[in-house]
Amino acid sequence: MEFKKNILCIGAGYVGGPTMAAIALKCPELRVEIVDINAERIRQWNSGDIPIFEPGLAEIVNQVRGKNLFFSTEIAEGIKKADIIFVSVNTPTKTFGEGAGMASDLQHWENTAHAIVAHSQGDKIIVEKSTLPVRTAEAMERILKARRGGIRFEVLSNPEFLAEGSAVMDLLEPDRVLIGAHRTPEGLAAEKELVDIYAHWIPREKIITTNLWSAELSKLVANAFLAQRISSVNAISALCEKADADISEIAYAIGSDSRIGSKFLNASIGFGGSCFQKDILNLVYICKSYGLTEVADYWELVVKMNEYQKRRFVQGIVRAMFNTIAGKKIALFGFAFKANTGDTRESPAFQVTRDLLEEHAYVAITDPQALGNAKQDLQGTNGRVSYESDPYKAAEDAYAIAVITEWEEYRHLDFERIYRSMKKPAFIFDGRNILDHGKLYEIGFNVYPIGKKALTHFE
Ligand code: NAD
Ligand code: UGA
Repeated sequence: MEFKKNILCIGAGYVGGPTMAAIALKCPELRVEIVDINAERIRQWNSGDIPIFEPGLAEIVNQVRGKNLFFSTEIAEGIKKADIIFVSVNTPTKTFGEGAGMASDLQHWENTAHAIVAHSQGDKIIVEKSTLPVRTAEAMERILKARRGGIRFEVLSNPEFLAEGSAVMDLLEPDRVLIGAHRTPEGLAAEKELVDIYAHWIPREKIITTNLWSAELSKLVANAFLAQRISSVNAISALCEKADADISEIAYAIGSDSRIGSKFLNASIGFGGSCFQKDILNLVYICKSYGLTEVADYWELVVKMNEYQKRRFVQGIVRAMFNTIAGKKIALFGFAFKANTGDTRESPAFQVTRDLLEEHAYVAITDPQALGNAKQDLQGTNGRVSYESDPYKAAEDAYAIAVITEWEEYRHLDFERIYRSMKKPAFIFDGRNILDHGKLYEIGFNVYPIGKKALTHFE
């Protein structure tokens, strides 16, 4: 079949895979190819067992793979053929040199820019899909313009707002799509090409167009605002535990104010995931580099509060269990950074496990999707960690259960059976406030929610 245009995406990860699958599904006249340097990942995308767990994604991939969606390691070939290139490579926090621990590590992104320059034979639109520091497009343009020979590259920013676990819905019915372009005739023409792709399934009024720098910065700001809400509610959860107030009641009461809104007010053991911390630290670094110390300090507190919440959770476990958990088995229910994903990047579970091991506890980890990643993350830790796909087995002979991830199935477990199999007194630390605390207390558990009064059988 003759395709109208060739779309290439460099980076077959959590963003590249699902976003391109959505474009391929909705735009059958486009040929969409995703390339990656990771041959194993490409092999998995081409297999019956795709490399990421995301509800509804495998069905879409099965529908379009081999028709107008292709996965490959042929990067140079892909660049040559492409009319539009999305760059969706990872941009983690830098771990070395200037800006270590804060700035974005742009080496993968820069490698792709050089590859595009080296292999392009005609004009192209380059779309930044990765989350990048504001004004990164300027650097991309400098690299691309270093090439002689009359080839034109027009750079657009099209940050991605999908959340893991709901990626398919977020892509098919997004709140908005954001496209930033230079306000020049060439920039606006490139912007129109991208708008036309999304307009296949997204109402035009939801496609926001801005200047390039606003689009780049909006992405960092959106994540900073979302994370800030979680840190705010978590800060108040600590106060609730002292004042006998209830954080769920407070979240409902304040969230009913339409100016505040009810979403993202669930108190928790802290936010995880590959992006919130990375993007806020990047924002902090950018502010510092512009000399905006107060602005940087303000946003950095969101991350500090999150660290405090994770530490506070384990300290609470130790204090409740008579100040010692040495030699005691603790079952962690969940290791993924949120429900409906197998992703464990920056999951609070990692710090909780490390802190429990430091207290010489035994840790039994269960999770419906993330055990493989958990094993990899905890490689090299001592032998006091075990992995169990069955939560009932994980809880056997444990002194305590700590709920780390809000998997729906944990609400429906037979906690009477679990209670009978545990050491007594049995404890539950509900780091997500998803369980029926009154019922657990009646069964005999000592229950410690987040931001609510503990229910204990002790005098
Ligand atoms: P990821 O690590 O899952 O995927 C990135 C892929 O890029 C990897 O497979 C890697 O092998 C590949 N890659 C790196 N360098 C390459 C190169 N030179 N050539 C070809 N392939 C290369 O990362 P991700 O979670 O998909 O995130 C990608 C970007 O999107 C990041 O900037 C992230 O901040 C942003 N983002 C992520 C999410 C999310 O939910 N994960 C949501 C919105 C935005
Ligand atoms: C987040 C944003 O929601 C996406 O819009 C963005 O595109 C993405 O980051 C990104 O840039 O990578 P994601 O990290 O996948 O998406 O998941 P979220 O639903 O935002 O949850 C992040 C963390 O916050 C999780 O650990 C979650 O459990 C926690 N959380 C969320 C809370 O503790 N309380 C809440 O009320 C909501």
